[in-house]
Amino acid sequence: MQRVFSGIQPSGVPTLGNYLGAIRNWVPMQDTHESIFCVVDQHAITMWQDPKELTRQTREMAAALLACGLDPARCILFVQSHVHAHTRLAWIFNCVARIGWLNRMTQFKDKAGKDRENASGGLYVYPNLMAADIHAYHATRVPVGDDQRQHLELANDIAGKFNHDYGVEFFPNIEPHIMGVAARVMSLRDGTKKMSKSDPSDQSRINMTDDAETISLKIRRAKTDPEPLPSEVAGLEGRPEARNLVGILAAITDRMPEDVLREHGGQGFGTFKGVLADALVAHLSPIAAEMRRLLDDPGAVDALLRKGADRAREIADPIVARAEELVGFLPPR
Ligand code: TYM
Repeated sequence: MQRVFSGIQPSGVPTLGNYLGAIRNWVPMQDTHESIFCVVDQHAITMWQDPKELTRQTREMAAALLACGLDPARCILFVQSHVHAHTRLAWIFNCVARIGWLNRMTQFKDKAGKDRENASGGLYVYPNLMAADIHAYHATRVPVGDDQRQHLELANDIAGKFNHDYGVEFFPNIEPHIMGVAARVMSLRDGTKKMSKSDPSDQSRINMTDDAETISLKIRRAKTDPEPLPSEVAGLEGRPEARNLVGILAAITDRMPEDVLREHGGQGFGTFKGVLADALVAHLSPIAAEMRRLLDDPGAVDALLRKGADRAREIADPIVARAEELVGFLPPR
């Protein structure tokens, strides 16, 4: 059985983008793959995180993943900092990856912004830790949103160079698993920007914890253009906000954008937004309720995560110990 790995940063409440682009695709993989999912708190601190908030958000993210359908009986769910194999391998990868490769990472450029000199060293080597997350398990399939594509290419370059430099076939090639319509859910305020948990404007995103009223209000206020919806996908050209809302309704109702436009083409956004808000509320409310139920007993969530980490260590520790041996580190015992 192929092994799947994916991760999510606890840098805020998960958004509809995280859900449609990644989490929702993780759920069915539990039955077809050996599945490992990780709340990547070490990645989160590459940007400043308030310590108390980070603790709370890590637990909240785990609860969100469970509420979305991850089942500890069918997958391994854990917190990155609980399994030290990740940072051990990341150090080796820091020494394998070339600075030129890291300089090409568009996400670093976006996140560091204009004040690059002031970005953390962690943000710069972030993709090396991400490569380590995956390769520490010899995972070969990685379900992610479109924004992670370049990081996965780098993870393959790192594995290739490690194998070449040490004359082994140790790290396998990774296959990205990036799913169609919702691989890139855009901001509700600007259809050219990704929907993100760290966007300063809460109006730009739907959070998985938003109640029905908030969801409806955000959708009603979402930016659109004055034209009615086209009846064909080609008519969405140059209309990023319209494309985004159609894509969201398609994803949440398990249809293609063509089908959504066949039904709603010609409608104004007033009517369409009502339909979209209702569909979102129907889909997301039970998840938010389950999340609240789980968070009533934080001790139980923590216990699940500790068990997950024990299982993760069993897989990752021997793989990373072997990588350290290949590098020539004197065995510690
Ligand atoms: P993160 O926390 O930014 O996002 C988690 C997952 O959600 C996807 N995603 C989106 N998909 C569609 N539309 C959006 N607007 C949107 N926003 C986010 C992301 O593509 C991702 O799949 N570096 C990763 C976390 C990570 C990881 C890993 C992933 C760390 N180690 C190893 C895979 C394998 C990140 O920052 O994701």
